[in-house]
Amino acid sequence: MPERTTAASQERITLPAVCDAHLHLRDGAVLGFLARVSARTCAHAIVMPNLDPPLRTVAEALAYGARIRRALGPDPGFTPHLTLYAHPDLTRTEIAHAAAEEGISAVKLYPHGVTTQSSSGVRDPLALDDLYGALAEANLPLLVHGEIPDPTADPFDRERRFLDEILEPLLERHPRLRVTLEHITTREAVACVRRHAPQLAATLTPHHLLYDRRALFAGELRPHLYCRPLLQRDRDREALLAAATGGEEAFFLGTDSAPHERGRKECAAVCAGVFNAPVALETVTELFAEAGALAHLADFTSARACRRYGWPHPTRLLTLVRRPWRVPDELRGDDGGRYVPLRAGETLAWRVLPDGEGAPT
Ligand code: NCD
Ligand code: ZN
Repeated sequence: MPERTTAASQERITLPAVCDAHLHLRDGAVLGFLARVSARTCAHAIVMPNLDPPLRTVAEALAYGARIRRALGPDPGFTPHLTLYAHPDLTRTEIAHAAAEEGISAVKLYPHGVTTQSSSGVRDPLALDDLYGALAEANLPLLVHGEIPDPTADPFDRERRFLDEILEPLLERHPRLRVTLEHITTREAVACVRRHAPQLAATLTPHHLLYDRRALFAGELRPHLYCRPLLQRDRDREALLAAATGGEEAFFLGTDSAPHERGRKECAAVCAGVFNAPVALETVTELFAEAGALAHLADFTSARACRRYGWPHPTRLLTLVRRPWRVPDELRGDDGGRYVPLRAGETLAWRVLPDGEGAPT
């Protein structure tokens, strides 16, 4: 049957493999499972350093990269791009060393105490001028978790306050530093990125594009939607969706897929993080199809991150078909752990065909 091409009626989409600009693969026994879940659709991913302990040196990051590659086996078609965890003792020499390593793409700033594994985070982000100067000189990007590290701050205001009190002065003081504001959640963040692009870019997650904070409190509390920064208002979600689908170079996909074992999500002190890798591309495709923006999908999921970080554009192609499928209630890791994916139990419209099944019909 000939392929139909209008956005509203399109049944089949072919696009390059995904570049996920923000991903948590964890470590240890669960690493192989998580790496395989992402390698299903991704050619490149920036892998976060918030392990326990965090990855603070080039040697630690490269050793982690080797563990990821070992867990995946030969020729997985997936390249992990490593990051260092920002801290006040990160020296100019170590930054120059990181910049010279092809496997290392960036330094990640976690403000203290704002999210999972941020107890080693930075208490005063504006006190790290030497670090930012060294990054700008080495042309190594800074990735930022944008929440103010003030324990008295209202959690729904933390991103907005970070923009005003930390990010704006930081960008002004370091005009040559390239910054990516990760997993943005508010319309103010969208406006801030537009003001400062191309110095500043932003990643957007599938869950912040799909849900506003009402979903977190829908009937019962939904711990699997608890992430940092928090889901915000519907008007914020609309601004994020417009930024994602509008063809702007500064906005691209970073899933922030951040799994925690089921028992750490369904308990009295819930870990922040949404495990969306099993449905990330399918969810974003659905949103772009609904918005009539499929023409911009591959730019958002792949090309812009390649241009931003200087990666080769993926040659592997994926095929998505409009064919309903049910998301499993949970997935089992190699560690025996149970992991609940985003949209568990829901029927989704789009499905990625396994490699080799994508030939045109
Ligand atoms: C992430 C995690 O679990 O590592 N959690 C989250 O809610 N996003 C950390 C992070 O990216 O903030
Ligand atoms: Zn993250």
